[in-house]
Amino acid sequence: MERVVITEGPEETISLGMEIADELRDGDVVALVGEWGAGKTTLVQGIARGLFVKDVVSSASFILARTYRGKIPLHHLDAYRIESIEEVFEAGLDRYLPPDEGVTVVEWADKIYELIPKGSLWITLEFLDGDRRRITLRRAPR
Ligand SMILES: Nc1ncnc2c1ncn2[C@@H]1O[C@H](COP(=O)(O)OP(=O)(O)OP(=O)(O)O)[C@@H](O)[C@H]1O
Ligand SMILES: [Mg+2]
Repeated sequence: MERVVITEGPEETISLGMEIADELRDGDVVALVGEWGAGKTTLVQGIARGLFVKDVVSSASFILARTYRGKIPLHHLDAYRIESIEEVFEAGLDRYLPPDEGVTVVEWADKIYELIPKGSLWITLEFLDGDRRRITLRRAPR
């Protein structure tokens, strides 16, 4: 089961994020994969908007994880700086994979592939020309 969406600019990626948010439930994990600047954080901003998060969602890179309050909690993780699976446990981030309450969105999820729960929603963002991005959504088999 795969869905491919081409977005023409950041606003459309935000809209897609809002649409995704409508489908999310407590305990869900969304795994984002894509190069620098592909639009991962932009997509998280859309998910946050869809979950009625009031705070501004910024890049999580320097703090590994941040929880935002919305309709349900949104846990935003960034695995870019993580060099080993052990670090995830040391930092206590495994409690978000999956979370008891709220949803977790992980940037650079491929770096901690082994820790992403089965059945998570995997989303890949790729550059096309200009501001266009190819965004592929797929539910990993349970
Ligand atoms: N179609 C698009 N979708 C998303 N962002 C876009 C699009 N077109 C242009 N952009 C721009 O690309 C940039 C994407 O940055 P963003 O921080 O979301 O990427 P990222 O994948 O999180 O990067 P990083 O790997 O540094 O965390 C933003 O400046 C955004 O405005
Ligand atoms: Mg980012």
